[in-house]
Amino acid sequence: MKIYVCKNYEKMSALAANYVAAQVLMKPESVLGLATGSTPIGMYEELVDKYQNEGISFKDVTTFNLDEYINLPKENENSYYTFMHDNLFDKIDVKEENINIPDGNVEDFETYSKEFENKIKECGGIDIQVLGIGNNAHIGFNEPDDHFSNTTGVVKLTESTILANSRFFDSEEEVPKKAISMGIGTIVRTKKILLLASGKGKAEAIYKTVCGPVKPEVPASILQFHNDVVVIIDEEAASLLDESIYERV
Ligand code: PGA
Repeated sequence: MKIYVCKNYEKMSALAANYVAAQVLMKPESVLGLATGSTPIGMYEELVDKYQNEGISFKDVTTFNLDEYINLPKENENSYYTFMHDNLFDKIDVKEENINIPDGNVEDFETYSKEFENKIKECGGIDIQVLGIGNNAHIGFNEPDDHFSNTTGVVKLTESTILANSRFFDSEEEVPKKAISMGIGTIVRTKKILLLASGKGKAEAIYKTVCGPVKPEVPASILQFHNDVVVIIDEEAASLLDESIYERV
């Protein structure tokens, strides 16, 4: 794990965008694994800027998103379909047919999840997977559990995640209770991982992820076993880490 600590959210976002843009420049047909949530919004803004002002093209890129709420219509303002189109896809030249966001409205989630996994394989695997992290150290919607989930499938959201995500909905009751998510196995099979975190609320999750024992109660801790993880966080998210284990940028 390589850990970079940036002064603030803006610097974190700019550095993260440089990392993703470098991947796309090196390999225009890259397969990008993307995340939703507040954390990557700044990075997406920077990537849009790179497309508009620096000529970086996403026309040959394929994308896979980590997760989606179940039974929330695609058009709903809180769907991850809407989030990704509003924050990134509608503003760059990625082709709609190359965008893969798990569908939360299918009839047969078992078959659909297998197809989603197969599609990742057929595309040659994910080159970079962008991850945010939950206050409870979830990645994707893989919540603390007694085992690490392997493949894409339906997951139940914990109370803490429902509460955290209720800030986007009119009330806590409106937050879907289930989601479809890449599994922990899907995530660790990606070639490179970019983990982002910002703010004091993430400090404990980051500490446990980086320094704690690897255990399914701390889903992100599994990343200690991946051989190409770049962690880009701001000073607040890094506040519980010993300075000797990171580089300040
Ligand atoms: P956030 O969510 O970026 O909105 O904090 C991260 C996550 O829950 O994975």
